[in-house]
Amino acid sequence: MRIRETTPADRAALMAVHEAAFGQPDEARLTAALLDDPTAAPTLSLLAEEEGDAVGHVLFTAARIEGAPTLRAALLAPLAVAPDAQGRGVGSALVRAGLERLQEAGVDLVCVLGDPAYYGRFGFRRALPEGPRPPQPIPDSYEEGWRVLRLSERAAAVDGRLLCADAIDDPVFWAE
Ligand SMILES: CC(C)(COP(=O)(O)OP(=O)(O)OC[C@H]1O[C@@H](n2cnc3c(N)ncnc32)[C@H](O)[C@@H]1OP(=O)(O)O)[C@@H](O)C(=O)NCCC(=O)NCCS
Repeated sequence: MRIRETTPADRAALMAVHEAAFGQPDEARLTAALLDDPTAAPTLSLLAEEEGDAVGHVLFTAARIEGAPTLRAALLAPLAVAPDAQGRGVGSALVRAGLERLQEAGVDLVCVLGDPAYYGRFGFRRALPEGPRPPQPIPDSYEEGWRVLRLSERAAAVDGRLLCADAIDDPVFWAE
């Protein structure tokens, strides 16, 4: 398996991975919207390939913390692995590769809304009640899944709201 940053030529392949993984087009559309959204820049868009075929994709988009303008944050969303390639470490490799690159680039913290057990394995910890708070209100049942990974000491005590890219800053993406 090879992991590399995507180019515009990968658009159809990465959207197909999301659509196959989620079994519906919403996440593929969100991914495309985020890649086209200037407020999401700089993005980190990583593709996993096996024998030249796209089998996984993860997108990290730039974010900020309300009240802490010098901190650099990122939001992990979405992550997808094609059904045939799941359970073989592709998703984990994408997340780990992304976190490594973000840390090297000086990003202070990364947030995600997802399965607590899955993201816990990479060091993401429950973010609430201390913070950062999610960009939009989330249902109580999602609170355990709103997670933060602090990559720098500067991010140790961050309690503001995460301000994310316009394309995902819509209540529809944060509701049940
Ligand atoms: C979730 C997903 C990205 C994981 O990718 P993957 O390549 O299959 O995962 P990995 O092989 O790296 O990790 C497998 C491990 O994670 C666990 N795991 C996989 N999906 C999980 C999930 N949704 N919740 C919790 N654990 C999960 C597996 O049980 C396995 O555990 P083990 O290592 O102890 O055996 C992939 O299954 C997928 O695309 N699912 C559909 C879309 C989705 O739900 N995306 C994530 C939310 S944005």
